Amino acid sequence: MILETQQLTRCFGKFTAVDAVNICVHMGEVFGLLGPNGAGKSTAIKMLTTLLPPTAGRATIAGYDVTHQSDAVRRIIGYVPQALSADGSLTGYENLLIFAKLYGIPRSQREQRIREALAFMDLQAVADRLVRNYSGGMIRKLEIAQSILHQPQILFLDEPTVGLDPVARHQVWNLMQQHVKDYGTTIILTTHFLEEADSLCDTVAIVNRGQVIATGAPAKLKATLNQPNATLNDVFITI
Ligand SMILES: Nc1ncnc2c1ncn2[C@@H]1O[C@H](COP(=O)(O)OP(=O)(O)O)[C@@H](O)[C@H]1O
Ligand SMILES: [Mg+2]
Repeated sequence: MILETQQLTRCFGKFTAVDAVNICVHMGEVFGLLGPNGAGKSTAIKMLTTLLPPTAGRATIAGYDVTHQSDAVRRIIGYVPQALSADGSLTGYENLLIFAKLYGIPRSQREQRIREALAFMDLQAVADRLVRNYSGGMIRKLEIAQSILHQPQILFLDEPTVGLDPVARHQVWNLMQQHVKDYGTTIILTTHFLEEADSLCDTVAIVNRGQVIATGAPAKLKATLNQPNATLNDVFITI
């Protein structure tokens, strides 16, 4: 188990955005937090990535407590926030160099890590172009490249494919799956695309109004409905 939460909760005033969530994530799996807008997915991710303190409950990553051992947690995670965040006034290469420095990658290794990440994300040809001229798909791929420079054990991707056209979306899916295969990285992603979760995730937790209402392998969740050709959408509607 690489990640575990116990009754993880976050309130904003009287509103409970994440409500006593218990999830377990196995090492090397792709785990999807699935649910409609406002379900509490980004709030959960922010707590797991140490950016937002929980109101109650706890979470551990590789045994480190996200509240009390946040430095240790930060060293082993990568994070791509929901909003596009790469700097448009810099080139792709320069964006990566900033992250390599931030992550404390030794000078002697920076060039190689950046080249590897660019190659992995198929961005070599545009590395020296300003990011403001990138498409949404290229920016997303650059951000994923940034987040894997320090070879994290666990990668958090908040709505990685929102705003991407179907071709770019499939490319990002394939690259994520390839990364899990090549490096054994655990991926936790959020999405409101049910078919995306279905094809990409080993395990999903369906979240609604801050609560996990179902969890398991997509095939298993669909099988509980006892209807042929059931989709995750049917699961969501039924529970
Ligand atoms: N900083 C905040 N202050 C107040 N309410 C917030 C804050 N962040 C999120 N919320 C509320 O919490 C709920 C869950 O938000 P969020 O986690 O962003 O959902 P999701 O990512 O699933 O779309 C929403 O109703 C949102 O308005
Ligand atoms: Mg969100």
